[in-house]
Amino acid sequence: MQTPVSLFTSAPSISDQLSVVQAAPAVPVLSSSVQAVEKTVPVVEDKCVGSPPASKAELPVEVVASSALASLAERAATCRLCGLSESRTQVVFGAGNPNADLVFIGEAPGHDEDLKGEPFVGQAGQLLDRMLTAMGMDRDQVYIMNTIKCRPPNNRDPRPDEVQACNLWFEQQLDLLRPKMICLLGRVAAQTVLGSDAPLGSLRGRWHDYRGVPVWVTYHPAFLLRSPAQKQKGWQDLQELLAEYRSLND
Ligand code: URA
Repeated sequence: MQTPVSLFTSAPSISDQLSVVQAAPAVPVLSSSVQAVEKTVPVVEDKCVGSPPASKAELPVEVVASSALASLAERAATCRLCGLSESRTQVVFGAGNPNADLVFIGEAPGHDEDLKGEPFVGQAGQLLDRMLTAMGMDRDQVYIMNTIKCRPPNNRDPRPDEVQACNLWFEQQLDLLRPKMICLLGRVAAQTVLGSDAPLGSLRGRWHDYRGVPVWVTYHPAFLLRSPAQKQKGWQDLQELLAEYRSLND
């Protein structure tokens, strides 16, 4: 029988993964801007789908939030707040269960995501799927998104001004998702969301906070594809995350 870690160690060879670009030091933009901005109520027009319950007050809060999320995604789809809108094929808003307790956040869409309009659908996404399987989960139980919604040309790191512009969507999206925990995938996502320039190694293994939500940090699946020897440590991270996740419902 396959052990959980072996479920995601049977990855394609490293030579298959060369499209992933090494990341340069990131600038902690997102979090510093967040600190400066008070938490706001999402400015989203709530649209309820399906046949009409008389009033929004009669709907479960999850239904209202997920229709508001769809409405936010619709508005983000035509965003022109930064230069990435010139080169993107489409906005990659996020995918998964809008009522998930756990949200995974990666860096930025890559080539495959830009074409498909969904986060983590390339090789890194396939490894993320195997990581979820190893945790006994699948994409329908979690929500997956990135720090920014449009692909940076040549997969370069998101620039501070791009992160800043996209923060408009990012904050409202998380306000609507209201996750009970967040897992940041990789150094760029971790440094961006936490507003830190600390190396990934020092951010892993302890809980952080993002606007009141507990945050865990682990390796980016693309890094694990390049460095399979680190998968064991990645699996330890996921086990700790899973223990906390399970305790949510205890
Ligand atoms: N890498 C990311 O950080 N996000 C994606 O959606 C795909 C690859």
